[in-house]
Amino acid sequence: MSELAILGGTPTRNRPFPSWPQPAPDDLARLETVLESRNWGGYPFPNQLANEFAQEFAEYHGAKYGCCVVNGTIALVAALQAAGIRFGDEVIVPAYTWDGTAAAVLFAGGVPVFADVDPDTYCLDVEATRQAITARTRAIIPVHLAMRFADMDALLKLAAEHKLAIIEDCAHAHGGQYKGRGAGSMGDLGCFSFQSSKIMTAGEGGIVITSRLDCHEVVQSLTNCGRASVTDQYKKRVLGSNYRITEFQAAILQGQLEQLPELAARRVRNAALLTKRLSQVEGISPLPSQPGQTREAIYNYVFRYRRTEVSRDLFVAALDKEGIPCDGRFYEPVYRSDLFHVDAEAFPQLKRGRDEIVDYSACACPVSERAAYDESVWLPQFLLLGGEQDVEDIAHAVNKIATSIGELAGADTQLAGVKSLSRAERPRIEKTRNY
Ligand SMILES: Cc1ncc(COP(=O)(O)O)c(C=O)c1O
Repeated sequence: MSELAILGGTPTRNRPFPSWPQPAPDDLARLETVLESRNWGGYPFPNQLANEFAQEFAEYHGAKYGCCVVNGTIALVAALQAAGIRFGDEVIVPAYTWDGTAAAVLFAGGVPVFADVDPDTYCLDVEATRQAITARTRAIIPVHLAMRFADMDALLKLAAEHKLAIIEDCAHAHGGQYKGRGAGSMGDLGCFSFQSSKIMTAGEGGIVITSRLDCHEVVQSLTNCGRASVTDQYKKRVLGSNYRITEFQAAILQGQLEQLPELAARRVRNAALLTKRLSQVEGISPLPSQPGQTREAIYNYVFRYRRTEVSRDLFVAALDKEGIPCDGRFYEPVYRSDLFHVDAEAFPQLKRGRDEIVDYSACACPVSERAAYDESVWLPQFLLLGGEQDVEDIAHAVNKIATSIGELAGADTQLAGVKSLSRAERPRIEKTRNY
């Protein structure tokens, strides 16, 4: 019988990896204090803990202001509105990201324009971005994806040349720094998610950080039902909603920020060892290191699968059976995603004032497609929160499959469903995991 678990062999690992989320030591005491205070909500805005946390978080990332909001998608919507995005304005987004990056543009009345990603970082490609600029373009949303930063120097230069706003989607990059500058502090505004899979979480939540007081005031007003912001220097009035978080969430987020440096250091240490091990496996190509990252943030450890004998999907299925939680189709190019239900009836900005209706079925971003369907393997961050033995187990499982790849390729028909479908034939799958 085969040694591979997917073919009936013994799995490399039966023990669970560290669990996620991880509470901080003072969480219970903090929650009890909130409970007893009877001051639970986000009003009076910005309330005590939410305000304290927002300021600490902004400072930690090198921005002047922070405003907590209900989630990362709303953070992006508010940031786009604060940056002045209006009906029909085009906003360039990477094709390879979570659907919410593009959905936020539509919710704000804009038109997302997809640009391809760089093959070495899986973040927005600068040349593709340049080519996507039109007379209608008003902003760019670089996403710092998984464990890498977008090339911010080049993107900021490009944005300055064309007078575009930059809104950083930092849903994966809490605590990260690029060339000494914190995630979210390089562009006009930075947006984070605190959804439960993220490297800081309150179950749900989000934040917008910025050093532009005019933008911060608009984000505050949008979050607090249109009321004047705390400083109200710009006297801008907008139609707002209630995006406030609770004091319970803020209490949890304070603990998450306190433990972030320690957990990040553990991930970085284990990721370095994993990269070393995986570099020695035939057909496995870790992402090249990114010297510009002066403080690494790892939301998922991503590597590239380059064997031709069996599909990436079958490799991922085999790795999962070895006891290593992993994913291949973590993201699809958004324009091909089953969750991207978009037409000009629902979003008239896709047709009004245009000669032709925006047609996302015509999009083609080959690097994003290759990453999504053939190449990328995603390991969730909590696999890196334990000790060296966990890393050795992951590397051992990858190596075990790589050295038995011929066996997997020649395996029986029960695996045919995973390995033989062409890209076009593969079923569109609803994303059911926790992200
Ligand atoms: C890249 C990216 N952008 C935006 C979001 C939206 O965040 P949320 O789920 O908190 O709305 C997420 C997370 O799901 C994400 O991964």
